[in-house]
Amino acid sequence: MKHILTLDHLQAYNKRVLVRLDLNLPLQNGQLSDLTRLKRSLPTLKELTAQGAKVIVMAHLGRPKGEDKSLSLAPIFKALKEAMAPTPVFFCEASQGPRVKEAINALQNGELLLLENIRFVEGEEKNDPTFAKEMATWGDVYVNDAFSAAHRAHASTEGIAHLLPSYAGRLMEEELRALHLALDAPTPPLIAIVGGAKISTKLPLLENLIPKIDSLVIGGAMANTFLKAQGYAVGASLYESDLLDTARDLLSKGCDILLPEDVVVAKSLEDSAPITRLRGEVKNDEKIFDIGPLTCARILDKMKDCHTLLWNGPLGVFETPPFDAGTTTVARGAARLTQEGSLLSVAGGGDTVAALSHAGVLEDFTYVSTAGGAFLEWLEGKPLPGVIALKSQG
Ligand code: 3PG
Repeated sequence: MKHILTLDHLQAYNKRVLVRLDLNLPLQNGQLSDLTRLKRSLPTLKELTAQGAKVIVMAHLGRPKGEDKSLSLAPIFKALKEAMAPTPVFFCEASQGPRVKEAINALQNGELLLLENIRFVEGEEKNDPTFAKEMATWGDVYVNDAFSAAHRAHASTEGIAHLLPSYAGRLMEEELRALHLALDAPTPPLIAIVGGAKISTKLPLLENLIPKIDSLVIGGAMANTFLKAQGYAVGASLYESDLLDTARDLLSKGCDILLPEDVVVAKSLEDSAPITRLRGEVKNDEKIFDIGPLTCARILDKMKDCHTLLWNGPLGVFETPPFDAGTTTVARGAARLTQEGSLLSVAGGGDTVAALSHAGVLEDFTYVSTAGGAFLEWLEGKPLPGVIALKSQG
């Protein structure tokens, strides 16, 4: 990869390799409910330990204010140890100071040490140079495999990269390659699907994407604001009254924009008898919860003519069937075209991953990013400090 050194450039044997991972896994009642990010981090860890490196892992969980033991990495250590077996994996209950130093000194080649939540240290989120310098004494080289935390300029994601020879891990490399193919160097025509609740949170993303893409599908509750801006009745649906002019402005930007032509409405999410209506025919007491079958067919038709798809945000309330039908139908259509070889499909963002998983197509897309906020910021065209810091090394 241009300008960024990868594990291909690193002789890791007998080196102390400081690895930043994103192990910010969903935790419910002390139980980890999804191990995807951990599993996607394993290739880098296995490659480094197999080469005989001493691997020191830094990661965060949640947003602790100081040492909050409910956000300890202890449950993650357990999962990591199981996933890495038979490699010896140790846990250091500190994330700075002499205990870290001692634990690293005891590490043998081919072994792995996980440090306690790096955000327990005040200097981490402040990108404090003193803390970054302390970190730099822990390793001979630094590997960043946390694309999904690369939008944070923290000591373990940014500061440290200026102090040690730095490399992208395999997951970081994979994410950057997929994103590059999807937006910087796509095979046209390029179609984007943008869904979700509010235009306000997706405005920078829409403004960055529209000039770069051929077609844009807008779904989710944010489509209501666009429909309203065009004079269609949206009944009691959620929409952003202060963004109608913004919506009209976006619609006039020249890219081919597909808005819902029909919608699935109900009085509430508990309503067991939803109705499909043409846009504009929504009654005053009805709410739009999904796109209709005609809209799905239009999107699938358009997708057949495209070679690249970028997807962020669900098209309806996919968590509550039957309002999952629109998102699931389009996701399965995209998966089919990908498997047939005519479409390169890249998706990302928290809800999107859950929606694709619900549709059962997570493995059938070309690439599904593990990132939430970092994926959004990349779609917005913002530089990601963790990636920039790696680039300055190449
Ligand atoms: C994420 O879960 O998106 C990353 O781990 C970043 O977490 P943060 O938003 O708390 O920085």
